[in-house]
This record gives sequence, structure tokens and C-alpha cells, in this order.
Amino acid sequence: MVINAVERKIEQYVSELGDHYVSSLYRKLPHGKRLRTKLILKIAGSDLKVIKTAATVEMIHAASLLHDDVIDDANTRRGQISVNASEGNKTAIMMGDILYSKAFFELIGISPEVAKVVSNAVVQLSLGELADVELSKQFHTNRDAYLKMLYQKTASLMEASAESAAILAGKPRVAYRKYGHNLGIAFQMIDDILDITTDSKTLGKPALHDFVEGKVTLPYMYLYEKLDASEQKKLVSLHRKRLNLQDEQWIKSKMAEYHIIEKSYAEAKVLIVEAITLMESLGEKDLSNIAKAMIEREF
Ligand code: IPE
Ligand code: IPE
Ligand code: MG
Ligand code: MG
Ligand code: MG
Repeated sequence: MVINAVERKIEQYVSELGDHYVSSLYRKLPHGKRLRTKLILKIAGSDLKVIKTAATVEMIHAASLLHDDVIDDANTRRGQISVNASEGNKTAIMMGDILYSKAFFELIGISPEVAKVVSNAVVQLSLGELADVELSKQFHTNRDAYLKMLYQKTASLMEASAESAAILAGKPRVAYRKYGHNLGIAFQMIDDILDITTDSKTLGKPALHDFVEGKVTLPYMYLYEKLDASEQKKLVSLHRKRLNLQDEQWIKSKMAEYHIIEKSYAEAKVLIVEAITLMESLGEKDLSNIAKAMIEREF
């Protein structure tokens, strides 16, 4: 299977670093859903350059998660204890830097054009993570800032994955870029919804963790709009606090009362439908199915 070729390429890149500790840390990292790889392979096939591009993108994604778990104080990732929790923040940060740097080193040799697109996305991703930290300091309902941050931290890498694959396959890059853009924003909106609706075992990472970490995601913004003044005060008072069971139940029941989850899904769905329409117009049935499956995912 082509996806196995991507796994082997990542292992090769990691072993070329010539460091036993790094190799053993990498081997212990559980694999994720490989969504970005699937996009790249569906768009561009299985040429060596395509395999290499997917490998670098997955290394970049893994690096971003190593850093993200430090930033978010998350103790689990992909169903296991996170590297920051088991080895400490310092190791998680350096492991992330090593994966980022090796990926950039390899990208240059694949295609300068692809290297440009992907490295620019990593600049955006990092700006997005920084904006996320800033936005978490206080309760806010700044939708534009939230959407910009979602684009930067998550959609930029999916957009770059789709665009890079289109470049390699000689397909119209603007259309595929747009597809990756929409998919990425919807993906993060759904990730923010799943944090509220799904248990940590299914997610493989902490659940109901965003608000405790200060993240005022779309459902919380919608909820705030609906609450009366005293309830708004209560919601703001729970921001960045460790929630007890009663507080958790209050948030969830208010969200149910005002159909907040449905409303949030509907917003993600607009972007998904646009992505589906675009891919169907290009005869890309598999890519339109990836977009359809995204809205139905459970983790
Ligand atoms: C997690 O991404 C980080 C977000 C952008 C929400 P994925 O959900 O694609 O993570 P893995 O690779 O499958 O673990
Ligand atoms: C996305 O944000 C992380 C990156 C883009 C690196 P989250 O912080 O919501 O991701 P999860 O929920 O921890 O996977
Ligand atoms: Mg996180
Ligand atoms: Mg985060
Ligand atoms: Mg999340």
C-alpha cells in the first residue's frame, strides 16, 4: 500500500538523523489518522516525490502536535501518554524542532516550489498557535480573530498539502488550495466541537479541555450570545478554571438548550459543502468523499 511507503520514508528520514534516542522516541509515537497524507496521495498518486512530500508533511504535523501538547498542557495524545508528559517539555520541544528541521531539509530536495508552499504554511501554523495562546488569556467573543487563528494553525497545512500535491500532479493549484483551506477550517471547527461532545477515550486526547485552557471556541461564543446577563457572568467566571462535574453539566445543558452544537456543525458544513461542490466539478469523487466523511467523524 502506498501509505506504507510514506511510513517507511518517515522511518528512513528519522534513522538518517543517526541518533538512537530520537529513533526510539519516534518509534514510540503512535500514528494518527494520516489525513494529510491521504489528501496528498488522492490528489497526486504515488510518485517518489509525492511519497516524500507526504512524509515531510506528516513529520511537520507530528512536530506541531509535540509543541501543541506543551502549549496546551495536554497529557495524552493519540490514545497514549504524550511526550511532554512522559519525557518532559524540553524533550517534546526539541523532538518537535528535530522533526521540523529534517522535514525542511528534505523538502528543498523534493521541489523548491513545494518547499516554499509548505514552509510558508508552517510560518502560518506557528503564528496561529501564538495567536491561540494570546486569545486564551481572556474571555472574548472575537469571531474574526478566532477564524483567522483557525486558518493559521490548522487550515494552512491542509491547504499547503493539497496545493503541493496539485503542483506535483500538474493539477490546477488554486482549486485544490481552496479545497484544503475549507477542509482545514471545518476540520478545526469540528475538533473544537468534539472537545465538548466526545469523551477523552474516543478522542485519544483530553476532552472538555479547551475552555479550561482558555480557548473560547465557536460553541462557547455562540453560547455566550444566547445566555442572559447573569448566565454570561457565570460562563465568564468558569473560563480558565478547572471545571467540576456540576459546571461541566451546566455548560453542556445550556449548549443543548440553545442547540449550540447543531449551530456550530452547520457552520462547518457550509465550508464542507463548498469543498464537495468544487471537487465534484473537477470529477474528484474520492476527495469529495473525504470532505463528506469529515463532518461525520467521531475523533
Ligand atoms: C490534530 O490533528 C490537530 C488538529 C489540527 C486539530 P489530527 O486530528 O489530524 O491528528 P492525528 O494526526 O490524527 O492524530
Ligand atoms: C490544533 O489545535 C493544533 C495544531 C494545529 C498543532 P488543538 O490544540 O485544538 O489540537 P488538539 O485538539 O490538541 O489535537
Ligand atoms: Mg491541543
Ligand atoms: Mg492547541
Ligand atoms: Mg482541539
